[in-house]
Amino acid sequence: MIQIAPSILSADFARLGEEINACHGADLIHVDVMDGRFVPNITIGPLVVQALKKITSIPLDVHLMIVEPEKYIDAFAAAGAGILTVHAEAATHLHRIVQQIKAHGVQAAVSLNPATPLTMLEEILPELDMVLLMSVNPGFGGQKFIPSSLDKIRRLQKMIAATGKRIPIQVDGGVTLDNISTLVEAGAEIFVAGNAVFSTPDYAATITALKQAGSR
Ligand code: DX5
Ligand code: ZN
Repeated sequence: MIQIAPSILSADFARLGEEINACHGADLIHVDVMDGRFVPNITIGPLVVQALKKITSIPLDVHLMIVEPEKYIDAFAAAGAGILTVHAEAATHLHRIVQQIKAHGVQAAVSLNPATPLTMLEEILPELDMVLLMSVNPGFGGQKFIPSSLDKIRRLQKMIAATGKRIPIQVDGGVTLDNISTLVEAGAEIFVAGNAVFSTPDYAATITALKQAGSR
């Protein structure tokens, strides 16, 4: 069964609690953390994650688009993150950072930008609980899916199969009702959906529709 992770980046920040509570059927809540350095945008920090943890039982999937992620992992783990994703491009000592995340009992994931080759994952892959492939350049919601990401999912799927472990592939950026089934066929299992969910009037219905479109 595929999983849908609505990205609150496209939600109404003035009504964040209500927006999340309207996401019935969501498997994860995707929280985009941006620092204005790794990406050209600034969003939220551990205080917001801590506040959201109190109003939802859905696991918080925290996507760190920040430089020096090791400085903030402890704070996001304490705030209640269920999954912490760091970018390979932002981590000098990726192995140490992954162990730092796991030491908190939090699931550890690594993300790659569209132009970053899969070989960056080769050594760390068996240690991971999830891989996040960016299918847009990170920084903003509502961008168009980059078509070459599809083949990258297929190639990653093969790399994962070779490890003999079950490591789900998450896709982030430009996921829609129209492309989700192709992404599932390619081997992705967890789908971040910002604009696709929050631009519609009924979030729960859209989440159900995405799941149906993905299981066809
Ligand atoms: C982009 C973020 C995404 C974004 C996805 O930098 O990592 O999570 O919210 O938004 P959509 O689904 O609208 O492309
Ligand atoms: Zn994201």
